[in-house]
Amino acid sequence: MESNTLTITDNRTGRTYTLPIQDGTVRAMDLRQIRISDDDFGLMTYDPAFMNTASCRSSITYIDGDRGILEYRGYPIEVLAEHCTFLEVAYLLLFGELPNESELKEWVSQITHHTMIHETTRKFMEGFRYNAHPMSMLVSTVAALSSVYPEAKNVHDEANRLLQVKRLIAKMPTIAAMSYRHSVGFPYVFPDNDLTYTENFMNMLWRMVEPKYAANPVLARALDILFILHADHEQNCSTNTMRSVGSSEADPYSSVAAAAAALSGPLHGGANEQVLKMLDEIGTKENVPAYIQHVKDGHGKLMGFGHRVYKNHDPRAKIIKWTAEQVFQITGRNPKLDIALELERIALEDEYFVKRKLYPNVDFYSGIIYQAMGFKPELFTVLFAIPRTVGWLAQWQEMHLDAEQKIARPRQIYTGQRKRAFIPMEERQAAAVLKA
Ligand code: SDX
Repeated sequence: MESNTLTITDNRTGRTYTLPIQDGTVRAMDLRQIRISDDDFGLMTYDPAFMNTASCRSSITYIDGDRGILEYRGYPIEVLAEHCTFLEVAYLLLFGELPNESELKEWVSQITHHTMIHETTRKFMEGFRYNAHPMSMLVSTVAALSSVYPEAKNVHDEANRLLQVKRLIAKMPTIAAMSYRHSVGFPYVFPDNDLTYTENFMNMLWRMVEPKYAANPVLARALDILFILHADHEQNCSTNTMRSVGSSEADPYSSVAAAAAALSGPLHGGANEQVLKMLDEIGTKENVPAYIQHVKDGHGKLMGFGHRVYKNHDPRAKIIKWTAEQVFQITGRNPKLDIALELERIALEDEYFVKRKLYPNVDFYSGIIYQAMGFKPELFTVLFAIPRTVGWLAQWQEMHLDAEQKIARPRQIYTGQRKRAFIPMEERQAAAVLKA
């Protein structure tokens, strides 16, 4: 018998089936032949939250959760963070190879010249309340871009897809900066094409009356590294959303807006903002043991800890800790780091967290750096969405080129009632739910 097969005996019928094993998986559709009668639908898999389901083939990002390994297109994240710029890594994620000097120069020029947004989009953003959360503004404004570029619906046109990819990568920092400036009542700052991607982002955020913004090179580099670390992470919640919405052939602006909405949740990209709120709530190092006990007693989670895939350290957290030291040499040490380090020290020794393999993830230290750089916590998830837009778009492109992919439409286990007798209005009792 061929070795790469799985033999299953259905004890309901006594019949045996042999299924091919490919890439460590069995195809769910191969289970449908396992029936108890000719009119039986056949077996499905049941996998809430997709804990053990591969939804696609991808060559973009490789993660080994047990060994704490993260690679973009086969390059270790540590090497890319040390040697590359964010736009260089964006090129790698999207096209599969590191660009040579002329390719990078052309790529940076093309992105730089798409940073402006349409005046109607600026007016659209004026409609938000002064205290609108920047992620709400980002999600809504990105979705609105689909009305500015209606041709983006032509998702089967490769050149058109690439044009929208460049527009989105270029405009995310502009929209993010505008959401911040709107929230503090400052006038918007136009992009400055003389600056790098992260320097220009800082320019649009923080330039006031000076004729030319001069970004601190250490802080600009730190932001570049943080953007590299956040660029992609295989089939996480928001990327799964990007692929699912994109699978209906929706335009990329609507798909990115949906992905950003998924990222905004506190269990996903919203965790970095929650980590700062948690550290504020703890207040001092001395309060850490009591807070940890509070979590162990089932009251909330240790935000910035744990991961669906990493059951060892998150390689990004180690690089972020190193980057924090570089930033603090410029900004001064963020006192919250001491609380975070004490939290990590105690948690990593505590059986509750060790047994559950809970380690600091990418969100645990990133917020401390962002705060030291002058970002408000409300902007932290926006800082996650900007670089992750590259990952979402790379995965979206890969989906469109994958002949196996089609519109995503899972099945269900139906648990409701069947074929109920209709009740005329005059005979209906008030539903219990309305009595509550
Ligand atoms: C990101 O998927 C990605 O790749 C995401 C991401 C990316 O780059 O896209 O890496 C970015 O989202 C990082 C994660 C940021 N979120 C947080 O920091 C929020 C806190 N973490 C958790 O909510 C949780 O760890 C998740 C959501 C990250 C993972 O959840 P899982 O895999 O569904 O695990 P689980 O909730 O089933 O937890 C298993 C056990 C449970 O205890 P028991 O029921 O077994 O007793 O561990 C416990 C959980 O209660 N647990 C935690 C905990 N995380 C899990 N207990 C305390 N604090 C935590 N943080």
